[in-house]
Amino acid sequence: METADELEQSNEELILSFLTEGGDEFISGAALSDKLGLSRTAVWKHVEALRKHGYRIDAAPARGYRLVEVPDRLTNLELAPLLATRELGRVMHYEESLPSTNARAYELANEGAFHGEVVVTEEQTAGKGRRGRVWVSPPGKNLYFSAILRPELPPQRAPELTLVAAVALCETLREAGAKAMIKWPNDVQIDGRKVAGILTELSADTERVHFVVLGVGVNLNSAAGDFPPELAELATSVAISRGQPVPRALFAAALWTRLEQWLDTHAEEGFEPVRTAWKSMASTIGQDVLVRAEQRELRGVAEDIDASGALILRTPDGKTERVLAGDVEQVRPRKA
Ligand code: BTN
Repeated sequence: METADELEQSNEELILSFLTEGGDEFISGAALSDKLGLSRTAVWKHVEALRKHGYRIDAAPARGYRLVEVPDRLTNLELAPLLATRELGRVMHYEESLPSTNARAYELANEGAFHGEVVVTEEQTAGKGRRGRVWVSPPGKNLYFSAILRPELPPQRAPELTLVAAVALCETLREAGAKAMIKWPNDVQIDGRKVAGILTELSADTERVHFVVLGVGVNLNSAAGDFPPELAELATSVAISRGQPVPRALFAAALWTRLEQWLDTHAEEGFEPVRTAWKSMASTIGQDVLVRAEQRELRGVAEDIDASGALILRTPDGKTERVLAGDVEQVRPRKA
C-alpha cells in the first residue's frame, strides 16, 4: 500500500513527466486532470506544491501549464521523469547529506535491497575514495551515488564491474562535452586531472557474489576554489573544463542509462566488449608509467589490459608483469 505522501509524490512525478514530455508546449489543465484522474483543482494544488519545491511552471488561462525551470536537485521528483532505465535507479534512496553513499548502500543491501536500487546524496561528510583516501564531496554541486548490484558472477570477476562503470562514465562525460579519458584502473580524467572516481565494494563468499556496491563520484559543478589546496593541481570538474554548468539530474539520468546498457552487455556477452571500449578510451596504454601497487612499485610500459582487467606492464628488463590493483603515474609522454 502506498502512503498518502507517496501518492502525492507520484502524482507530482506524473505531472512533471507530462510537462517534460510537452517541452515548450502548454498542456491544458483538462488534459492533465484526465490523464491523472484528478479534478482540475487537485492538479492546480500539485502544481503549487511543485512550485514550492523550486519548479518554475507557467500557467496561462485557456492554455494550461508549461515547465520552464527545474531545480538543481537530485530527488525522485527531478530524476524519475528523466529516467529511461529498466531497473537502475527505479528505487532511489535520497538524503540531503550522508557520511558516504557507499556505506548507506552497503547497509541497505545487507538488509535485502534489490538489484538496481541507488543511494544518492547532495553531500558526503565522509566520502570514501580508493585506498583509504577521502572523496571531497561539497554540497549541491556534484554527483555522488552508489548502486546496489546483484550480478550472476563468481567473486573473482567482480572487479570487471569497475571497468564497466568507467566505460559508461567516460562515454557520458564525452556526451556532455568533456574530453574524458580513463586512467587505469578506473580514474576518469580531463586533461590529465581527475574528474570522477569509482569505488566498488564487494560482499561475497567463495562461490558467489552476494552484492556489489558500485559507488561513483563525479565533479560536475565544483569550482576551482572548492578543491582543497593539495588537490588544486590534480582535480577538475566538467564545468571548469567546458566553461558551463552541468544540469545534474540530466547527467545522472544519462549516466544510469549507459551504465545499465553496459551492465547488460557485460552480463550477456562477457568482459571482451567492455575491454575493447575501455582500451579505446584509455590514456594509460602505450605510456611509460610508474605503478604503485600494494607491496611494490613497478616501472615500465603499460602494454595492455588482460581478460580480467589487470594491467600488463613491460618492465625495462623485457619481462611482463600483471598488476591487479594500484595507482598509475605517467612518467613521461612517449614519443610518437
Ligand atoms: C576514487 O578514489 O577514485 C574513488 C572515489 C569514489 C567516490 C564515490 S562518491 C559516491 C560513493 N560514496 C563514497 O563514499 N565513495 C563513492
